Amino acid sequence: MPPITWTDSMKRGLAFQDEDHEEAVALVNAAQTCTDEEFPAAYRRLLDHTVDHLKREDDLMARIGFFAMEVHTSEHRRVIDEMHHYLDKLKAGDIAAVRAYVTDAVPNWFINHLDTMDTATAMFARQMGEH
Ligand SMILES: [Fe+2]
Ligand SMILES: [Fe+2]
Repeated sequence: MPPITWTDSMKRGLAFQDEDHEEAVALVNAAQTCTDEEFPAAYRRLLDHTVDHLKREDDLMARIGFFAMEVHTSEHRRVIDEMHHYLDKLKAGDIAAVRAYVTDAVPNWFINHLDTMDTATAMFARQMGEH
């Protein structure tokens, strides 16, 4: 998949979420375009950012009582487990598998997740007065 270009059309009107998503795009793109030597650190930065971001969304959902929180948080847990699975592959030396994951699966997941669960959560949050 070609690199994602961040645009205002990807904003959902929640400041922390929009800022996190823009940073995620930059980190995914950096992990796609860096050298093999730089890749492990780039992947760690992406993983750390993702863990922090998904926790911020989970905390928001708990605070506002989002009706579909269980579905959304369990999807967050699934992707974090998946990213740790690929971290293990990286530690085992299978850099090609992790580079392929970051090139295809991760950006596809990001776009789909943003357009579905994150969008629904942001709409509900804004109705609850979050911004
Ligand atoms: Fe998100
Ligand atoms: Fe999310």
